[in-house]
Amino acid sequence: MTIELEYTEEIERSTAGLYERVKHVIPEMEWPVHAPYVGAIEEWKKRQSAVILAHNYQTPEIFYGVADFTGDSLALAHKAAETDADVIVMCGVHFMAETAKLLNPEKTVLIPDMLAGCSLADSITGEDIRKLRSEYPGVPVVTYVNTSADVKAETDVCCTSSNAVKVVEALGTDRVIFLPDEYLGNYVATQTDVEVILWKGHCEVHEQFKPSDLRSLRKQYDNISIIAHPECPPNVLGEADFVGSTSQLINFVETERPERVMMVTECSMSDNVAVEFPELEFIRPCNLCPHMKRITLPKILHSLQNLQAPVEIDPAIAKRARRAVERMLEIS
Ligand code: 13P
Ligand code: SF4
Repeated sequence: MTIELEYTEEIERSTAGLYERVKHVIPEMEWPVHAPYVGAIEEWKKRQSAVILAHNYQTPEIFYGVADFTGDSLALAHKAAETDADVIVMCGVHFMAETAKLLNPEKTVLIPDMLAGCSLADSITGEDIRKLRSEYPGVPVVTYVNTSADVKAETDVCCTSSNAVKVVEALGTDRVIFLPDEYLGNYVATQTDVEVILWKGHCEVHEQFKPSDLRSLRKQYDNISIIAHPECPPNVLGEADFVGSTSQLINFVETERPERVMMVTECSMSDNVAVEFPELEFIRPCNLCPHMKRITLPKILHSLQNLQAPVEIDPAIAKRARRAVERMLEIS
């Protein structure tokens, strides 16, 4: 499915202000490809009474061009719970769309590409949790939102990277089973006295960072702030000046205004933050999430025009999974 739209003078004029804002991160020759979709998507959003939620890892033309709300997984879940739009288009990965659907069972929730998955969500099944529960009877299960509804249904409470410590401590137990991200769980264990039983799931994007790369960047650049997502391996987090969820990393840049910063996370985040802070130097490398990059402007337009692809969840599973997500939202 490729729809090609024409870049007219009128589109050039109407998107000139937007391009001025993103010109540092989108080459001029690419704008005629993106710009026609921005207007068309706006028009279809109105026709369908739709809202677009976009994760911090979406590309700048989506993040700044068409999103109504942007944020980390927690913020998007809150927004999904609050919206009164009829249709929610989730520009992110499948588990994010599923979370939005859990919170809005009566609404149409669309994901522009059904194949936008996540290596963490693929690392565990509901059956795995049932086995763990029999191994550790009575120990509550905290599940990262980066999981399927099937897994959430077996869970006591969900968490995201921005509230994981708070959720673990809110349970008031001295042990929890924390799934599926081993590295996030490891990080949580360093921040609390609660004993954390881990699973060996990893993010295929964050596990690629190496501590030696960060050490050589520190030698190469004076006054560099290295800030990392907790899905990175522990020896990478050990090299970082600050650890936080995607939105917490953005807040760090906003409040600290480091002269130079390396965001040890997905590439588009640095682009999106660089738009807001053109005076700061963003040091790469970063890694791309192939799942997040499945979402494009043409697919968003197609999604709105055809109400595709709707996220559906078995009602029996949804009922139990919703409880775990709502419990998290009550805590944070
Ligand atoms: P955040 O909740 O920090 O946005 O993380 C989601 C994610 O998938 C990071 O890889
Ligand atoms: Fe999943 Fe990692 Fe992509 Fe986030 S960056 S969606 S955890 S694969």
